Amino acid sequence: MMKSVGILGLGHYIPEKIITNQDMEKIVETSDEWITERTGIKERHIAAANQATSDMSFIAAERALADAGVNGEEIDLVIVATASPDHAFPSTACLVQNHIGAKGAAAFDLSAGCSGFVYSLGVASQMIKTGLYKKALIIGAETLSRIMNWNDRNTCVLFGDGAGAAVVGEVEEGLGVLGIDLGADGSGGSFLVQPAGGSRKPASAETVAANEHTIHMSGQDVFKFAIQIMGATSKRALKNAGMTPEDIDLLVPHQANMRIIKSASKRLKVPMEKVWVNVDKYANTSAASIPIALCEAEHAGAMKKGDTVLLVGFGAGLTWSSIVLKWSK
Ligand code: UT7
Repeated sequence: MMKSVGILGLGHYIPEKIITNQDMEKIVETSDEWITERTGIKERHIAAANQATSDMSFIAAERALADAGVNGEEIDLVIVATASPDHAFPSTACLVQNHIGAKGAAAFDLSAGCSGFVYSLGVASQMIKTGLYKKALIIGAETLSRIMNWNDRNTCVLFGDGAGAAVVGEVEEGLGVLGIDLGADGSGGSFLVQPAGGSRKPASAETVAANEHTIHMSGQDVFKFAIQIMGATSKRALKNAGMTPEDIDLLVPHQANMRIIKSASKRLKVPMEKVWVNVDKYANTSAASIPIALCEAEHAGAMKKGDTVLLVGFGAGLTWSSIVLKWSK
């Protein structure tokens, strides 16, 4: 019989430095009113100059391990979902593997934009279900402030830095991951892209001058995609779990934009009281947003054992991801 697999521990890390909308008004031609109305964001946290994605991952990982009561040596799989790794290679996951002392564990980064953490939970849970691994550490972590164009008001007001981690392993029968829906539509790849720095356009003085190492986004196209996909992927994951939106006790959506979150709540008919929102405090932290939100929700006592929790994300790729969990802690 297949094992039941779920989350054993959670941890997150938010860098100290806060940049408010009022601070943004001094950087680009924008206003607190515009940002609040169009996105729901009030402030974002930005990593210190000496902090990279791995540094934030280390702290989130240590907290998740402590929460799960698991030692680093027990972890046999490490996945870091990120669009802003320390390096193109080695992977940030290998840096984490070394830091936590997970000797010999498989380690790799996963590139699925803001959907990355839920993709990682899907991958890790299936690998544990089949018996290949016993305990995984999965992380969503981003230092988007390093790849932002601070002169582009269309993007720079939207993002923030942070990390969230989960230890994944066997749980009581019937609890844990019950339904998964992961997918992509690569035809929308150009809507959200870091154009230079890879093999298509290696770094050069010209790519730096043209700001091509930063996030380029067609906001309205991503918005339209998000509005449509959040409901559709959620319903598919729920169907896989033999459930309907009425069964949801807590919805933890990707925190990109309050209007997108509200539209998902409306489409799924899940009242906003059951939706975890922190986009106002942290803005869009891409792959880190769902694990940070999940960890905060748990600390606030928003779910209890046996509750049905739905995680749903969308992002660069374009990608989407949702997972239905029966809370197992
Ligand atoms: O994790 C996935 C990542 N991405 C997303 O989730 C983004 C999805 N998209 C969105 O959230 C929204 O499309 C945005 C928040 C990015 C933009 O909101 P919008 O309602 O789609 O605005 P818009 O792009 O249509 O721009 C409306 C106006 C434009 O001015 P004009 O052309 O109408 O004169 C923009 O130039 O707002 C202007 N604008 C701004 N004004 C003040 C754009 N950014 C700003 C700004 N401050 N920061």
